[in-house]
Amino acid sequence: MEKEKTIIKVKDMTRHYNTNGIVVKALNNASFEIKKGEFIAIMGASGSGKTTMLRILGLLDKPTKGQYTINNLDVVNLPEEERNYYRLTQLGYVFQDYALINEMTASENVHILSLMEGKSKKESLLNAKEALENVGLGDKLERVPNQLSGGEKQRVAIARAIAKKPRILFADEPCANLDTHTSGQVLEVLKNLNKKFNQTIVMVTHELWHTKYASRVIQLKDGFIVSDKRRR
Ligand SMILES: Nc1ncnc2c1ncn2[C@@H]1O[C@H](COP(=O)(O)OP(=O)(O)OP(=O)(O)O)[C@@H](O)[C@H]1O
Ligand SMILES: [Mg+2]
Repeated sequence: MEKEKTIIKVKDMTRHYNTNGIVVKALNNASFEIKKGEFIAIMGASGSGKTTMLRILGLLDKPTKGQYTINNLDVVNLPEEERNYYRLTQLGYVFQDYALINEMTASENVHILSLMEGKSKKESLLNAKEALENVGLGDKLERVPNQLSGGEKQRVAIARAIAKKPRILFADEPCANLDTHTSGQVLEVLKNLNKKFNQTIVMVTHELWHTKYASRVIQLKDGFIVSDKRRR
């Protein structure tokens, strides 16, 4: 098999929060690489530093020290505007609370971003339809969020994140508000995107059974990586 390209390189990534003189060492000297097409699950107990790590990887926060590159680009030290642009155009996000606009249909929730980016209405609509089909919601394009189940809402959020074909898809506990059965469906959707499009995914979870959908599991404990294992 052809060797996959390294997309993410992290060296000594550290994040200490300083609140009124009290320092919390949320993440310490994390070093690892991620190849294109990996589906990473970041595991660990509450407070172990999972969200801290995901926010830094997703350019929503900066490390206290350490290096981080995406495709050899030093994304930590990009000028603020370029960093924001990179985040908007190259990275996709799914959070536990869906963050959909209630007044808009599934299709509108997905295509509004590409309209704002200046794409034509026709192209935006087509992209949205394709993204929603890829998460199994091709028949629910015109539903508003309160006509959708929790799992369907999360799948709309995933469609919104993948519509721009991001280099990396980040998900922080995407199943936190879902029951076991629905969680399985959402994880299955992520796994399919990973397989079908070789989509690189970094997902935070604290449920052990969720890790079976991933290709690699990074385990955090008290802000340290304590294990890093490939599953397939
Ligand atoms: N903005 C902040 N200011 C100060 N401390 C913070 C901040 N954000 C997180 N922390 C602390 O950093 C540590 C790691 O937090 P983090 O949110 O990364 O954990 P987590 O693994 O995502 O936990 P959970 O499973 O509960 O979401 C915790 O001790 C937390 O209290
Ligand atoms: Mg968290």
